[in-house]
Amino acid sequence: MAVLKVTKLGNPILREVSKPVDLNLLSDPDGELQIFIDDMIDTMHEEGGVGLAAPQVGKSLRILVMECEDSERYPDRESISLEVIINPEITYFDEEKISGWESCLSLIDFSGYVPRSKRVIVEGYNRDGNPIKIDTDDFSAIVLQHEIDHLNGIVFIDRMPDLTKLSYQEEFKTFWMEEATAPTEP
Ligand code: NI
Repeated sequence: MAVLKVTKLGNPILREVSKPVDLNLLSDPDGELQIFIDDMIDTMHEEGGVGLAAPQVGKSLRILVMECEDSERYPDRESISLEVIINPEITYFDEEKISGWESCLSLIDFSGYVPRSKRVIVEGYNRDGNPIKIDTDDFSAIVLQHEIDHLNGIVFIDRMPDLTKLSYQEEFKTFWMEEATAPTEP
């Protein structure tokens, strides 16, 4: 178990399409891949994130972890139980959009206002290599879209239609926080 170094915007790995995981490598419970997944979870907890994608800790692999329990960074958000998703694919995007303020451990200083599909269905594999299907909406759907974007070399600012709503964290708290806690409108 270890906390890994988080890659920051400018590191080319964040702009690569990550490689699919060979599911056979999940079968050894003490293997390198399972240890790496534990390290991703530790890193997410240590850094206070609600999600983390493997390229954010320097590995070009299609793995994401997410969890939101009493998050300091997102205190008002619904909780999300721990999920590890291997080779995730979004198989359904709802046409209905919701916009919300997002941040990212790889762009830690910034928040931005990003439209996302309100509901998605994600298919992939759990850490045992068994197929999983997640049908979810609102906050967890946003987190999933954000993390899967990382696996395709996309960061949240790429999704922003209006860069005037890109803000340093300090200024976000001063000028935008109140609006952000109001119900989001599509
Ligand atoms: Ni991110």
